[in-house]
Amino acid sequence: MEKLQGIKGGFLVALNGAKTPAELEAVRIRFLGRKSELTMILRSLKDLPLEERRNVGPRAQALRKEMEALLSNRLTSQESPAASQSQVDLSAPARKAERGHLHPLTLVDEEVRKIFSAMNFSVVEGPEIETEYYNFDALNIPADHPARDAWDTFWLKPANQKKLLRTHTSPVQIRYMEENNPPFQIIVPGRAFRYEATDASHEANFHQIEGLMVGKNVSLANFKFVVEEFFKRFFKNQKIQFRYRPSYFPFVEPGLEVDIKLGGKWLEIMGAGMVHPRVFEYAHYNPRDSQGFAFGMGIDRLAMIKYKIPDVRMFFDGDLRLIKQF
Ligand code: PHE
Repeated sequence: MEKLQGIKGGFLVALNGAKTPAELEAVRIRFLGRKSELTMILRSLKDLPLEERRNVGPRAQALRKEMEALLSNRLTSQESPAASQSQVDLSAPARKAERGHLHPLTLVDEEVRKIFSAMNFSVVEGPEIETEYYNFDALNIPADHPARDAWDTFWLKPANQKKLLRTHTSPVQIRYMEENNPPFQIIVPGRAFRYEATDASHEANFHQIEGLMVGKNVSLANFKFVVEEFFKRFFKNQKIQFRYRPSYFPFVEPGLEVDIKLGGKWLEIMGAGMVHPRVFEYAHYNPRDSQGFAFGMGIDRLAMIKYKIPDVRMFFDGDLRLIKQF
């Protein structure tokens, strides 16, 4: 019977639209109440001819049962607040789980550790808060030495304790040699600090990798092999040229700087040299028995080159648009 179909359609629409218990009650009165169309039909059944009564009666009864059931379903789900508040849409596509990942500096740090470990270097770490002695004096940079100006330093209070934030990872050379005898080869990854204005290539907080290899006759030739091998592995398959320029650091003699040419551009990449005899003396080695090389390079610098990042500050400003690319 078309009328019943119409009632059912209207009921479903109204039920769907009803949000509160009061609205549901209004729907009940409108469709199942004493004056509702369906009730009227049921009441007038007795006046119908037998044939029609048999046809309409059971269907009208069934519709009433169905509508009552739907209504009471909605009422019970309304009663539990959790169900009414969380409008769970089970057909919605699942939200993608965001997966975390490592920061580009961490990736480079791990890669550097891996390569040097494969070349039998041990990884050693040291404190970020240093004493003036380890950061300067024991590296042959006495208080009155003009080279101190090359390392703008964050001094810590109280001033008489002569504590500072290490300006490079080189103090770990001394700390390690105080405790260990040659031959050995180590790298020292870590954070360093300089009291200077920041720009695209300078940060007050940056990261270095120190290298130190000491033995009876470790030479610059060994150094050359180690660094070239490292860079070849680090910049996989890229064509690299190397250039060694004389330079000055108080804790090496001779001192040099290494440049690499990558993609047509020369880049300063590390300071290095043969460990100065006076540094061995500070570490209680006999400089006649030992010789070796040391180097220091910037991890941030390496990461900028590897990933073509133009500004070192981008590593630290936490902008996810950069970080998410790795
Ligand atoms: N410590 C030096 C710097 O930070 C780099 C360096 C390390 C140079 C070891 C020579 C040997 O500038």
